[in-house]
Amino acid sequence: MDIDFVSWLNLALRWVHVLVGISWIGTSFYFVWLDNNLRAAATAKEGVSGELWAVHGGGFYHNQKYMVAPPELPEDLHWFKWEAYFTWITGFLLLSLMYYYGADAFLIDKSKADLSQWQAIGIGLGALAGSWLIYDAMCRSGMGNDNKIFGVMWSIVMLGVAIWLSSVFSGRGAFIHVGAILGTVMAANVFFVIIPNQRKVVAALKAGDTPDPALGKAAKQRSLHNNYMTLPVVFIMISNHYPMTFGNEFGWVILAGLSLSGWYFRHFLNRRNIGKVEYHLLVLGFAAFLGTMMFAGVSQSRQRLAPLDEEISFVEARGIVQTHCVTCHAFNPANRDHGPIPGGVSLESERLIKQHAAKIYEQAVVTRVMPMGGEILITDEERQKLGTWIIQHLGKEP
Ligand code: HEC
Repeated sequence: MDIDFVSWLNLALRWVHVLVGISWIGTSFYFVWLDNNLRAAATAKEGVSGELWAVHGGGFYHNQKYMVAPPELPEDLHWFKWEAYFTWITGFLLLSLMYYYGADAFLIDKSKADLSQWQAIGIGLGALAGSWLIYDAMCRSGMGNDNKIFGVMWSIVMLGVAIWLSSVFSGRGAFIHVGAILGTVMAANVFFVIIPNQRKVVAALKAGDTPDPALGKAAKQRSLHNNYMTLPVVFIMISNHYPMTFGNEFGWVILAGLSLSGWYFRHFLNRRNIGKVEYHLLVLGFAAFLGTMMFAGVSQSRQRLAPLDEEISFVEARGIVQTHCVTCHAFNPANRDHGPIPGGVSLESERLIKQHAAKIYEQAVVTRVMPMGGEILITDEERQKLGTWIIQHLGKEP
């Protein structure tokens, strides 16, 4: 029986992460949508600040929002928190398994910084905790009262973090950490502010006191921040499948551009919910996406190693692949860290190398994310030779 336990554990964690993540995003989007769609109640009711009628799945729903709290607490009160907690827990386990346990390949790039595994883990965890502390202090300062100023300042902080992480980690590792920081801030908002404040409000009501409205206000602020951070996080998580994003030498610009497009899209929807249809926000979102694409294209052509003038034989190309790739890309690889055939790519035979030629070109000649782990033994000349053979073999640049 040949079972690759690490890969199966990875799949199980990712599966649960996506499952709970969808539930969290779903409730989070729903409540911000609900809040934005509340309208003054037709017949005034004590404590009710707004209501909404909706039809869905064959029934009618009637929501009412009590600003601060209802005069009397119902027996059964639903709390939303486990979606957030489990999303963070599974995300953190996945990060630990892939990027910390597998730091040598996924996180460390020796061509950028010669870190040991523990140094890299320390930087990663430090970035997660430090960013939360900065964010929390910013929210509690006066800056937190103005959403626009706060948004700009927090984006600048995150841009700085992204640039710094890009200089010490592999592109992939830097991207995932920016996503993990935003995800950690979002989950910590739920754990340290939103839920505790709601508990205090409930406790005050039970004691017959009037709850402090500042508690609800702070929770609302964090919940709004979460709403805007969600799409950039999702974008970062899927960008991992696209080496043209994290494999760019200015990956942080691409990260910022994609995040911005997600942010504009979210903002458009939020504005629309309060009755303001502002198509220019959608245009700006697309512009950010297209701009990012153009930037990636231009900088990638600059980054691409020019083909050589000489003829490169297949034997020479295969030699390079055998030295630098087959240690991992084989059915029974010498490097067991990634299981058999990482990424579904085996490069053991002439047929397979030719079959994957275009992918090899993308990964090893253009974005240079392979060989994994920023192996410094492969030279630019070898990459050039490999690229030249691929162009000659295919008769064109892939
Ligand atoms: C240290 C191990 C290691 C080495 C060495 C290595 N790779 Fe990879 N490679 C991986 C892993 C792990 C993945 C899967 C990445 C993922 O899950 O996104 C991968 C994925 C790939 C893919 C598939 C990407 C995709 O998603 O379609 C290609 C193509 C590739 N590598 C080419 C190469 C080439 C060419 C070399 C040599 C120049 C090389 N690799 C060296 C570990 C390695």
